[in-house]
Amino acid sequence: MAKKVAMVTGAGQGIGEAIAKRLAKDGFAVALVARHLDNLQKVAKEIEDAGGEAFPVTADVSNRDEVLAAVDKTIDHFGDFNVMVNNAGVAPTTPIDTVTKEDLDYVYSVNVYGTIWGIQAAHEAFKKMGHPGKIINATSQAGVVGNPNLTVYSSSKFAIRGITQVVARELAEEGTTVNAFAPGIVKTPMMYDIAHQVGQNAGKSDEWGMQTFAKDIALKRLSEPEDVANAVAFLAGPDSDYITGQTLEVDGGMQFH
Ligand SMILES: NC(=O)c1ccc[n+]([C@@H]2O[C@H](COP(=O)([O-])OP(=O)(O)OC[C@H]3O[C@@H](n4cnc5c(N)ncnc54)[C@H](O)[C@@H]3O)[C@@H](O)[C@H]2O)c1
Repeated sequence: MAKKVAMVTGAGQGIGEAIAKRLAKDGFAVALVARHLDNLQKVAKEIEDAGGEAFPVTADVSNRDEVLAAVDKTIDHFGDFNVMVNNAGVAPTTPIDTVTKEDLDYVYSVNVYGTIWGIQAAHEAFKKMGHPGKIINATSQAGVVGNPNLTVYSSSKFAIRGITQVVARELAEEGTTVNAFAPGIVKTPMMYDIAHQVGQNAGKSDEWGMQTFAKDIALKRLSEPEDVANAVAFLAGPDSDYITGQTLEVDGGMQFH
C-alpha cells in the first residue's frame, strides 16, 4: 500500500515541527507548510535524515489560493492526500482596551480563515482522490476557557472548536473525521513571547508572565511540543476512526470536562 500523506501548516518550528516529525516517524509522507522556506527546509532535512519523507511548500494560510495550491502541489509530489493538520496560528497579547481592528483582522485571517481554507483545500483533495480523510485543527486551552489579556486569540480559538463541530457533521457522511487539539502551555517561541508580553504589561519578569498561565497545571510541568504531537498522532491514525467533532485537551490537567 502507498504511504499516507499528511500536511502540517506552521511546520517550521514549535508544535507544528514536532507534529511533522512524529507523523513522519509514524510512516506518513509529510508536506510542511509555512510562509518561508528556510525553516521548512531545515525540518525537512531532519525528517529525511531520520529516514522519513518530507516536502516543504510555502503558503500563507490566510491566503485561500495559496493553501489550495499547496495541497495541489502535495498531490503532484506524493500522489495522495489523507490528513490535514491546520496548526499555523498567531497569538498577540491584547488586553481588552487595546484591541484594534488590525489585531482582529490579522489574528482572524490566520487562525480562523486559515483553518477554513485548510479544511476546504483538504476536502477538495479528498474528493479528487476519491476517499475520505482526517482534518485536525489547532485550538487551545484558551479556546476552551477565556484567558485574561487574550480576547482576540482566545475568541479565535473558540471559533476553531465551533468550526470543528460544524464541519464534522457536514463531512461525516463521506467518512471524513474532523477533530481539534487544545494544547496547554507549550515550550515554543509563541508561548515564550506571550509570557514576555504579559510580564512586561504587569511590570514583571517573563517567568512571572509564564506562571500566570502555568500555575494551574495539575501535572506540574510545562508541555513539550512532543506531548501535543503524541495526541495529534492519535487523531491522524486509525485508532481515532470513531471520533469526530471533538476537542482533545492536551494541557497536563488544566481543565476537566
Ligand atoms: N505554544 C502554546 O503554548 C500553545 C498553546 C495552545 C495552542 N497553541 C496553538 O498551537 C499552534 C502552534 O503554536 P506554536 O506554539 O508552535 O507557535 P509558533 O509561533 O512557535 O509556530 C507557529 C508557526 O505557524 C507559522 N505561521 C504563522 N502565521 C502563518 C501564516 N499566515 N501562514 C503560514 N504559517 C504561519 C509560523 O511561521 C510558525 O512556524 C498554534 O495554532 C497555536 O495557537 C499553542
